[in-house]
Amino acid sequence: MLSLIYSAAINGIEADIVEVETYISSGMPVFSIVGLPDVAVKESRDRVTAAMKNSGFDFPSRKITVNLAPADIKKEGGIFDLSIALGILAANGKIRKENLRRFCAAGELSLDGKIRKVKGVLPISLSLQKNKIEDFIVPIANRQEAAAAGKVNIFPFKTLAEIVKFINGELNCEPYVYNAYDLDADSGIDADCDFVDVKGQKNARRSAEIAAAGSHNIIMSGPPGSGKTMIAKRIPGILPPMTFDEAVETTRIWSVSGRAFASGLIKRRTFRSPHHTSSAVALAGGGTYPRPGEVSLSHNGVLFLDEFAEFRRDALEVLRQPLEDKKITVSRAKDSFIFPASFMLIAAMNPCPCGNLGHREKECVCNPYQVRKYQSRISGPLMDRIDIHVEVPALKFSELSALNDDSESSVGIRERVVKAREIQNVRFLGSGIYANAQMQAKEIKKYCVLGDDAFEILKTAVEKLNFSARSYDKILKVSRTIADLDGSDVIKTNHIAEAVRYRFFDRV
Ligand SMILES: Nc1ncnc2c1ncn2[C@@H]1O[C@H](COP(=O)(O)OP(=O)(O)OP(=O)(O)O)[C@@H](O)[C@H]1O
Ligand SMILES: [Mg+2]
Ligand SMILES: [Zn+2]
Repeated sequence: MLSLIYSAAINGIEADIVEVETYISSGMPVFSIVGLPDVAVKESRDRVTAAMKNSGFDFPSRKITVNLAPADIKKEGGIFDLSIALGILAANGKIRKENLRRFCAAGELSLDGKIRKVKGVLPISLSLQKNKIEDFIVPIANRQEAAAAGKVNIFPFKTLAEIVKFINGELNCEPYVYNAYDLDADSGIDADCDFVDVKGQKNARRSAEIAAAGSHNIIMSGPPGSGKTMIAKRIPGILPPMTFDEAVETTRIWSVSGRAFASGLIKRRTFRSPHHTSSAVALAGGGTYPRPGEVSLSHNGVLFLDEFAEFRRDALEVLRQPLEDKKITVSRAKDSFIFPASFMLIAAMNPCPCGNLGHREKECVCNPYQVRKYQSRISGPLMDRIDIHVEVPALKFSELSALNDDSESSVGIRERVVKAREIQNVRFLGSGIYANAQMQAKEIKKYCVLGDDAFEILKTAVEKLNFSARSYDKILKVSRTIADLDGSDVIKTNHIAEAVRYRFFDRV
């Protein structure tokens, strides 16, 4: 007897539909699975056998052959347990075969017949939608994630026994419905992390607002204790909510990463702050079955690299591709995977090893050689890729002790950011671009048109300060965001002049 059911294999952030064929024939009792790597086959066989017996089904003592097709795509073990068990039960006459073939199933079995949660359920759901397979059986713990994309009927279950009853029509189950995505559900502002606590630092606060409004990369440099880390941690709170498409993209990455996240769609922009001892692989992603790294986990969110100059050189160089292309290629022996990696980089560093270079009162004890060596840890090409450079000087005592500081709360800043981002959403509708920082040459040409006066200012600045071609583009993009914050269609002279000021490191 032959049976058929669908399952899926995860490839990067994509899911490939796999057909699980099971054939039971008379002959020596052998249970073989073809199309899986050896180790996974053995483990799966053991789990399926035990789970079936402990769910009250006899395990057929005949010749069982399971074929996972196509054979040439790489498959990871556990996810196929459920479809293999269902296939055997159908081929053995315990499940109605004709009912089985409309389903896709994904789930790992525990020895007692419970269904364990698996990775990559959202990509599978999206793939089923594309392939017009309508019914998806999932572990109960994956139900929200599976239903988040809509359109596919999701049937969540706890045990193998329940699923058998359901497919045979002995147990009624309505498709699980995940409540519609509510954009305003999560303001993202954390009461302990509000800009109202930051004293002084007007310039840094303004540049944080611009960075958030256009999703620009930003680097802050200043002496110890001036508030760099403090400001960075407050930026997620002023970012606009994610659009539905952004949320699906980010959740998809987290779904295949195997990391825990709030079930359903990720609605808050992620904020990742890997330690400066992190390896290149931790940042970029990798492994036998490649897992997304920090640059992808922060997709559509923030990657915060504190103590930027202390990161290993090879780890920092990994950032160059994603900063430019908004994606990262993870290579292995035979093939390579592309993960999305469109993040907003926030970097913070001291200006020199002792930290006091340029300090108003304290003296820097480093010699010029040490300073140069320290600053050159961030390569030119990398610094070039950061849109906004800002100095965060030490606070004066008067600023620090001021009682009625005029600091604005995150709520007000966020309102302006959201407004500016709405302008951008309309501008880039349907293009896959969500913010000014993601513009490529074509969009820059179209949307960053300068008047004669503004053009003159830019020309003078470029000639005088010797900016690179990339810096030139960055200035245009940042000025576009400043104009959006100003509610202005045209980029004016003051917008360009301000954007030029944020190329601090190009000047020193
Ligand atoms: N502008 C500020 N307003 C209010 N408090 C501040 C400010 N700057 C610093 N502080 C206080 O000093 C502490 C240290 O600041 P923070 O960690 O942000 O410094 P930093 O610039 O990151 O220093 P480092 O270079 O050593 O990492 C903060 O937790 C906060 O209590
Ligand atoms: Mg710090
Ligand atoms: Zn110094």
